[in-house]
Amino acid sequence: MSQESALLTTAPVAGDDHVPVRKVFVKTYGCQMNVYDSDRMSDALSRDGYVATDAVEEADFVLLNTCHIREKAAEKVYSELGRLRELKKARASEGREMVIGVAGCVAQAEGDEILRRAPAVDLVIGPQTYHRLPEALKRARSGERVVETEYAIEDKFEHLPQPDKARTRARGVTAFLTVQEGCDKFCTFCVVPYTRGAEVSRPVAQILAEAEKLVEGGVREITLLGQNVNAWHGTGPDGRDWGLGDLLRSLGEIEGLARLRYTTSHPRDMDDSLIEAHRSMAKLMPYLHLPVQSGSDRILKAMNRRHTAAEYLALVERIRAAQPDLALSGDFIVGFPGETDEDFEDTMRLVEGVGYAQAFSFKYSSRPGTPGAELKNQVPEDVKAKRLEKLQILLTQQQRDFAAVCVGREIDLLLEKPGRLAGQLVGRSPWLQPVNVDAKQSQIGDIIRVRITKAGSNSLFAEMIE
Ligand code: SAH
Ligand code: SF4
Ligand code: F3S
Repeated sequence: MSQESALLTTAPVAGDDHVPVRKVFVKTYGCQMNVYDSDRMSDALSRDGYVATDAVEEADFVLLNTCHIREKAAEKVYSELGRLRELKKARASEGREMVIGVAGCVAQAEGDEILRRAPAVDLVIGPQTYHRLPEALKRARSGERVVETEYAIEDKFEHLPQPDKARTRARGVTAFLTVQEGCDKFCTFCVVPYTRGAEVSRPVAQILAEAEKLVEGGVREITLLGQNVNAWHGTGPDGRDWGLGDLLRSLGEIEGLARLRYTTSHPRDMDDSLIEAHRSMAKLMPYLHLPVQSGSDRILKAMNRRHTAAEYLALVERIRAAQPDLALSGDFIVGFPGETDEDFEDTMRLVEGVGYAQAFSFKYSSRPGTPGAELKNQVPEDVKAKRLEKLQILLTQQQRDFAAVCVGREIDLLLEKPGRLAGQLVGRSPWLQPVNVDAKQSQIGDIIRVRITKAGSNSLFAEMIE
């Protein structure tokens, strides 16, 4: 056992007579990995007596876990920091401390620039050093302005505490589990290779141990996370090289774990073994987020996606042959530098050809430090806006069409949490749509057989089958 975790096990318990309870408020922006990381940071801080609060004005420590993917996402953080500055002043006038920390991809990308732009910030910590947060926070509390953005040589996951049963239970019956972090793909529009670093896969034993802990805490569905989750690789207990397909099969053997998902996948890393898992594993949900970004070969090349539209379509066909019931999801960028009307029409054609169950689409946002930002022929904002609108109309229509064909089908539904109306619970369909059904609170965590009766704009309705 590492020295750090040995120390942590003797840490005081919050609420102890001698230890004042301190409160931490965490706000999470960006992707699911940030959600996962925020939970792990809260877990680490709880060992030092910090309890989570939803009321920012009560917090002794405010932590923003940030996203740098598009300009808007990054700017949001600075406006939030402006508001926090006022709050911090108000607390200081009452003689109370408020430490302000910035974590996540803005922290990694901008480092001490954040301290210059936002004087209220005490602590900046990048995603590779979260295991050092408790110690960095102590330094910040003693008055130092701390910046921790070096890529750590040690394995952060080994040093972060695994979620305990009670905290897992409180978080619900579905959970994220990061298996891979970082990206070596260097798409020319994207900051992730710079903010999350090179691709790193967590070892099999660590992943299985964490999954088992989650299941002990009542989790029935796990979503494996990675920036390129299907690039995950490791050495199996059998000594063989494992890919994500092997890892999924192994996780599938954990008793009590009913469902598996994974996100996000790159088309280049979709290997036969993973496709085979979709054919043969009932626990692997028939849903795949497989971003393509554009349907134009010219733009795909300029984006450095390293495949053509035809190759993507052929891949989709192979996966659907293995799992005909698959719901496909994607990401799209419109207005990449140099994108013509014709290129955009290629994207529309690709979308029509694939038929997505769900998708995310964005206007290209020029990111400092990426090759895309250097390109001539940036597309005017109004052109981007028009293209985005047109694409979104098509994608929304496809999402509705997909929901409509679900009506009448019988599915297994994992009941996750209370629904909007009293007496209702909500869960996710195998295809990730929210499904509302009349059920008792005590049934949360159960998997029940239901018939889908109606499709709303963003969710489905179902009735229980005896
Ligand atoms: N690793 C994942 C996604 C990372 S970011 C993948 O490769 O699919 C999520 C999505 O944000 C991307 O798929 C892309 O569609 C979008 N995105 C990334 N950088 C962007 C930028 N500069 N402007 C607009 N959208 C961007
Ligand atoms: Fe970004 Fe491309 Fe890596 Fe995805 S694959 S994280 S879009 S560089
Ligand atoms: Fe954003 Fe970083 Fe995730 S840039 S999308 S928080 S990996």
